[in-house]
Amino acid sequence: MSKATVAAPANIAFVKYWGARDLARALPYNPSISMTLARAVSHSTVEAKSEGEVDEVLWAEEAGLAPAPPNFAARVLRHLAVLRRELGSHRGFRVATRNSFPSAAGMASSASGFAALTLAVAGALERTLPVAELSRLARLSGSGSAARSVLGGYVEWPRGEAENEAVAELLAPAEHWQLCDLIAIVERGPKEVSSLDGHQRAESSPYFQRRLELLGERLAGVRQAIADRDLDGLGPIVEEEAIDLHLIAMSSRPAIFYWQPATLRVLATVRGLRAAGVGAWSTMDAGPNVHVICRPGDEAVVAAALADTPGVESVFRDHTGNGPHGNVPPLF
Ligand code: DP6
Repeated sequence: MSKATVAAPANIAFVKYWGARDLARALPYNPSISMTLARAVSHSTVEAKSEGEVDEVLWAEEAGLAPAPPNFAARVLRHLAVLRRELGSHRGFRVATRNSFPSAAGMASSASGFAALTLAVAGALERTLPVAELSRLARLSGSGSAARSVLGGYVEWPRGEAENEAVAELLAPAEHWQLCDLIAIVERGPKEVSSLDGHQRAESSPYFQRRLELLGERLAGVRQAIADRDLDGLGPIVEEEAIDLHLIAMSSRPAIFYWQPATLRVLATVRGLRAAGVGAWSTMDAGPNVHVICRPGDEAVVAAALADTPGVESVFRDHTGNGPHGNVPPLF
């Protein structure tokens, strides 16, 4: 029996994946670009059992191992079946997962969880696969953003005309440019509408096609700003892009509202910081919490302003990270 443990990080998209041309295979309509995080990490230990043995899905907590919550376990079991098919294995797996960030903080990330699971399964089967293939396998979890979490630094996930071309590529490593991502948590609960439903409904928005038309220029701007380490160039594009995602969600049929009143208050705080000369820019995923991107030298002042904003329950401080690694103790 062989066992592997992997830590894989979450990522924050500067240009978002929103809308799938093939949802079952998580093939996106548009390329996306993200920054890999350092502290928001999922750990996964996978043991490959004998052929035909039943899969076990566990959740590692301070107190020890417990059965994983049913929704999460169902998605893991589905992905294990996909990985068996793709890797030509008939072995069962024992899996344990733990998040380094409080999942009760409304930050539960399927990107880090499914990237860690995919890499740990490959490790447990003693397969050394190219990063492109690991990205493709992580994407097949259905959490498309997991495709980007197999790399560190700044990552582009192209649209990919062929299925095996929709895989992550490195734009720049973490040491190229350190940025902070301060996450203002305004709600802890799970989101009401899953990203999967959001992707499905995106096409029904009258603004969906228009966003796709605008994206070429936006992607080019983000790539250039990363290459030039230019936060004043990057920030406005990132903020506009996140607002567009939510504009599409709100104008989908049926409409999806991820924002809470405190989300708007945080956006106002960020505009206030900029008016005071601090380079801080907001972005949001499919939820009410706000990620604020800034330079390391401004981290303390931005974190204090966010913590002072009514409705912010906590601020999780993260920064550009190096990507997955296996230098962690096994969970069992
Ligand atoms: C808004 O289908 O990858 O975060 O499974 O919830 O992680 P999860 O979602 P996924 O869609 C991601 C949607 C997004 C934008 C992004 O990360 O690109």
